[in-house]
Amino acid sequence: MFEPSYDRYSRPLPGAFGRERKILSVRSPQRLKLNFNSQTMKDILKDLQDIAGTRARASYSERLCYATDASQVEGLPDYVVRPGSTQEVSRILRLCHEMEVFVTARGAGTGLSGGASPVRGGVVLDMSGMNRILEMDLPNLQVIVEPGVVHEELNRRLSSHGFFFPPDPGSSAMCTIGGMISNNASGMRSVKYGTTRQYVLDLTVVLADGRIINTGSRVLKSSAGYDLTRLFVGAEGTLGVITRAGLRVVPVPRSRKLVLAAFPDAETAGRAVQEVFSAGITPSACEILDHITLQVLKRCDPGLKLPDRGDVILFEVDGTESSTLESARQIAGVCRPRATRIDIAGSKDEMDHLWAARRLVGAAISRLDPNKSRIYVGEDVGVPIREIPELLRKVQGIVNKLGLPAMKYGHIGDGNLHVALFIDPCDPEDRQKALQAADSIHRAALELGGTVSSEHGIGLARAQYMKDQVGESLTVMRAVKKALDEKGILNPGKLGL
Ligand code: LAC
Ligand code: ZN
Repeated sequence: MFEPSYDRYSRPLPGAFGRERKILSVRSPQRLKLNFNSQTMKDILKDLQDIAGTRARASYSERLCYATDASQVEGLPDYVVRPGSTQEVSRILRLCHEMEVFVTARGAGTGLSGGASPVRGGVVLDMSGMNRILEMDLPNLQVIVEPGVVHEELNRRLSSHGFFFPPDPGSSAMCTIGGMISNNASGMRSVKYGTTRQYVLDLTVVLADGRIINTGSRVLKSSAGYDLTRLFVGAEGTLGVITRAGLRVVPVPRSRKLVLAAFPDAETAGRAVQEVFSAGITPSACEILDHITLQVLKRCDPGLKLPDRGDVILFEVDGTESSTLESARQIAGVCRPRATRIDIAGSKDEMDHLWAARRLVGAAISRLDPNKSRIYVGEDVGVPIREIPELLRKVQGIVNKLGLPAMKYGHIGDGNLHVALFIDPCDPEDRQKALQAADSIHRAALELGGTVSSEHGIGLARAQYMKDQVGESLTVMRAVKKALDEKGILNPGKLGL
């Protein structure tokens, strides 16, 4: 078993990235599975180039570009290959299987837990070039795509036909469908529409030894055997490489309304969320922005109509004009006794402006510290919805006790909270505090019957919690991994396997 010794904040990357680059370090006991000599390394590159031509590279600068995703987890690959087809992926995997070279597939690299960081070297497969929408099969309520299609682009194409693909991560403008499937991504609309897993009907997957399989069919229902499609969703590239996906899509609702409610503190905001659900209302989005998040957003865009104080919940409802109006009024009525302010956004422009700002939170965080000497580390815990107020209370207690600046935001209607902890990565005390805070936050979520990751995935950043998270199921997961990837070449070190 691979047990990485892992300190997320231990040293700056050398060279080009400089001090402001996120700080990361993964000390892996072993890089390439076999200790190849330089001639074998050259031979492997030549074999890769026979398959992918100049899209197979090994220059230091290119390898450095693929050393990390959007997390603090790093590992230098030995080769970078940008495949153009399922057949190429199959040939590459057959070669790597035979030579026992590790393979880490990657989409746009927007992942936040190191899932796409090649922590033991080997080949990075950059799937972003396989980015064709192969078929708009709208009479079947489906689209067939390659994994490198960018989420926002897919929805732009679908919207002209009156459809959309509901999972909606903050990184929509960049993230790829393959990455979304591999992490079971979700985002702002999952409170009503569910996660990526609910929309994947079938997949083409290349297995570790190069075999190509199709996991499902075009029918909306099937009870023919094991649900392999769902097995590959959220597998973070540890079981196979996805090269094609059939996705279910749904019609765009005719009307949307947005209710903004501000509360004196996060815990009270959490109680209001529960009360809205208890009143039988299902919002299409339910996001928390705490008071620090509001300041950050206002610094980015002073024109935003956001309150100056308090913790805010954005409730969106969708449906027909009359149903959304009724639900928005109902939400306002439920929130009124606890709220310090309630607005119902009137126009589409106003709503779009607020949602665009919400999407920017991750990037906007840098505005909090103009000197850029601080980084933030984001967590992604989730709890059953009845525990939402308790999670908010506990998280506030943890960061207060450590005196660590932190921002809380996220998909609170799913019980999913992102906690951005700010630290000076060059300050050992700060680093220690962040590790402590992150650990306490993860433990709090587990104690409340929750999850250490609702949507960002386990990768390496949360691998240490897998045993506590899934218990004996980890043995079953390891058996599945062994059955599909006997030599363990696919995305080693991830998921705590
Ligand atoms: C978001 C990402 C961080 O919700 O998941 O913005
Ligand atoms: Zn999120």
